[in-house]
Amino acid sequence: MAPLPISSISVGQIDDVQELIKSRPNKVPERFIREEYERGVVLSSLKTHHLHHQIPVIDLSKLSKPHNDDFFFEILKLSQACEDWGFFQVINHGIEVEVVEDVEKVAKEFFDMPLEEKKKYPMEPGTVQGYGQAFIFSEDQKLDWCNMFALGVHPPQIRNPKLWPSKPARFSESLEGYSKEIRELCKKLLKYIAISLGLKEERFEEMFGEAVQAVRMNYYPPCSSPDLVLGLSPHSDGSALTVLQQSKNSCVGLQILKDNTWVPVKPLPNALVINIGDTIEVLSNGKYKSVEHRAVTNREKERLTIVTFYAPNYEVKIEPMSELVDDETNPCKYRSYNHGDYSYHYVSNKLQGKKSLDFAKILN
Ligand code: OGA
Ligand code: NI
Repeated sequence: MAPLPISSISVGQIDDVQELIKSRPNKVPERFIREEYERGVVLSSLKTHHLHHQIPVIDLSKLSKPHNDDFFFEILKLSQACEDWGFFQVINHGIEVEVVEDVEKVAKEFFDMPLEEKKKYPMEPGTVQGYGQAFIFSEDQKLDWCNMFALGVHPPQIRNPKLWPSKPARFSESLEGYSKEIRELCKKLLKYIAISLGLKEERFEEMFGEAVQAVRMNYYPPCSSPDLVLGLSPHSDGSALTVLQQSKNSCVGLQILKDNTWVPVKPLPNALVINIGDTIEVLSNGKYKSVEHRAVTNREKERLTIVTFYAPNYEVKIEPMSELVDDETNPCKYRSYNHGDYSYHYVSNKLQGKKSLDFAKILN
């Protein structure tokens, strides 16, 4: 979430989706309507009943006691999940349900405030923190059926204190408490991911330095024509790891692209959805994939997600880890670059599938 020195972007009128449905609940403005090809093929709900079509579930309690059979089995599952899906859900992650529900509550209260109040924390064109729509760079770009509120959390230098809201009163406190827990979870997950790649446990933590953590709250109001719009455009995440929380009883909204079909991710109670970001794809020399995903909306139900992006410090040099490259059998697929430069590249382009990774690919 590096700041962008962009002052001359003309983005046109960006309607606030919550306000739109208040004034004209059945109208979907042209700027939100997607082309047919963008809507894609979605796996039928019949098929998603089959386990084969569901993203893997990792039980973190089995990883708390190292080196027994359960541990190795779960590590194997994790490695397959990262290779085949780029996504998995974690259960028994140890984060208190109160902490999770608390941040959800303040986030919902934030989105429910009058627009004038939310506008005190604007996401200016070309920036990615604050309230509004990110990744809009032109007047003719389609808009997502979503209101976003994004904040840099850690290290403190990436925070913009003016954007941390004074209302709801407990917003900052709740987000701090939640973010601390998620940070610990990310550190743990990176250890397990290192083990699953045959690396030493601390490998990622040692190279990441003071890791960057940012949060984005996505609020998807109901849409009278859900088939015409997208909640969030297809993209991969620029992070190392992403932790997505969907509120309890949330309808299906997240979809991931697998074998050219959009597979819905069914929310599980008390689970968190984890996905591999572009950075781990590069570090693992493509063994683990950052998979393209998007969000869709629902005719009746709103949906709220709280998404944490966890990434190396901006100063860190990123390149495939030498342990995972072999000139003969597994040549290096990505060049070396500075993570801050990648972050800048990511936030200064619109979301477009996995296109952002072209920045790093070595093209033959
Ligand atoms: C994201 C994201 C999906 C969702 O914020 O990067 O992929 O369901 N969100 O909100
Ligand atoms: Ni994402």
